[in-house]
Amino acid sequence: MNADGRPSADTLAVHSGIEANEHRAVVPPIYQTSTFAFDNTEQGAKLFAGDAQGYIYSRMGNPTVEALEKSVAALEGGYAGLACGSGMAAIHTTFAALLSAGDHLVCSDAVYGPTCTLLETVLSRFGIDCTFVDASDVSAIEEAMRPETKFVFVETPGNPTLVISDLEAVGRVAHAHGALLVVDNTFMTPILQQPFSFGADVVIHSLTKFLNGHADVVGGMIVVKDEQQRQTFRRTLNHLGGVLPPFESFLVHRGIKTLAIRMRQHCESALQVARFLEQHPAVEWIRYPGLPSHPQHEIACRQMTGHGGMISFGLNGGLEAGRRMMNAVKLCGLAVSLGGVESLVQHPASMTHASMGAEARRRANITDGLVRLSVGIEGVHDIIEDLDQAMAGCTTSDGGARKRSASQPRDRSDRCTSGRPEDRQGMADRRHDRCLDYTI
Ligand SMILES: Cc1ncc(COP(=O)(O)O)c(C=O)c1O
Repeated sequence: MNADGRPSADTLAVHSGIEANEHRAVVPPIYQTSTFAFDNTEQGAKLFAGDAQGYIYSRMGNPTVEALEKSVAALEGGYAGLACGSGMAAIHTTFAALLSAGDHLVCSDAVYGPTCTLLETVLSRFGIDCTFVDASDVSAIEEAMRPETKFVFVETPGNPTLVISDLEAVGRVAHAHGALLVVDNTFMTPILQQPFSFGADVVIHSLTKFLNGHADVVGGMIVVKDEQQRQTFRRTLNHLGGVLPPFESFLVHRGIKTLAIRMRQHCESALQVARFLEQHPAVEWIRYPGLPSHPQHEIACRQMTGHGGMISFGLNGGLEAGRRMMNAVKLCGLAVSLGGVESLVQHPASMTHASMGAEARRRANITDGLVRLSVGIEGVHDIIEDLDQAMAGCTTSDGGARKRSASQPRDRSDRCTSGRPEDRQGMADRRHDRCLDYTI
């Protein structure tokens, strides 16, 4: 038990959502069914009217899916979970549940690309406006708030730059303006960061990543904090239809049993890898929340209980050096996605973010040399050895002396983050430019 009387996260990860069943199976069965039979028409009508408890149809609820929902809600310290067909389905469902035409939201500019694209190319067509800001700058969020702002959306640490938002401060600003704080907690998982305890109102996950942890499921989760929210989100999810099937739910629930222990290993190994990279002559800069050199390291230590498995870094020699390195890794997989037991590298400038164009990447602070590394749970010395051999050809002729160059992320204080009306058109132009073609 923790000091607050709640079981520890390790215990919750193993036991939450597991309930007694007919045969006392330690692992509950998979209810691989689309529908459930009624006793008679009266009972069917009662179930539809909400006057009786039970299952109707798997888009509306399924015991295997519900077990997973209870597990993630318990880990997050939330009221209820809603499992979705992907992280993007969870994000879309959240937007649809909370926004109507004429509404506005403030969104961190360091978010997963398709989140940005969804806002720019889909929700904008339904009369929803968004201001993107540097969410590490609380005053920028404050300036962007409007009377019609319904929520502030942050991803912290952000993908792929690992910029960090101060959740407590952002929550205070949102609430002072009558808005909610919605947090994408994918990179941290509830083991390392519990946004509800810092004032968040809704927490979102891509289950595809650390929560499942085995790179064999695409899924998402919304965690809400009260019954009213649960009903609103459940109705919306039921109507949009992006639910998670029973078998996928079973797999994610199984993955979660080892979540706490996996996250500890991800953190421990990532810190060692980050320290190795920090002193490597081929590496020009590195962002890892656990290093004192991370610009928001102090906030990271305050709101996170570990610093995660994600690292971004830049090579001397920028884009070309990054490409050479990507082609040379042997143990680490060259693939998008993250959070699995296996280490993966990807190079946003030449892969996921290539189609954005150089200027748009510059605005999003995604530099040409940025390499994103998801540190897996293989032997850490094997990971380091692989990176070392892959970077062997990337050392500069001057011995790798570090100097700030165009491929190093800027101090973001130079960025325009104002939400003043006169700045909004410029922002709209910039974010449109930035969001044209993110894919993964
Ligand atoms: C932070 C974050 N949120 C959401 C998503 C979307 O998740 P999915 O791919 O499961 O739709 C991703 C995917 O990489 C992500 O990194």
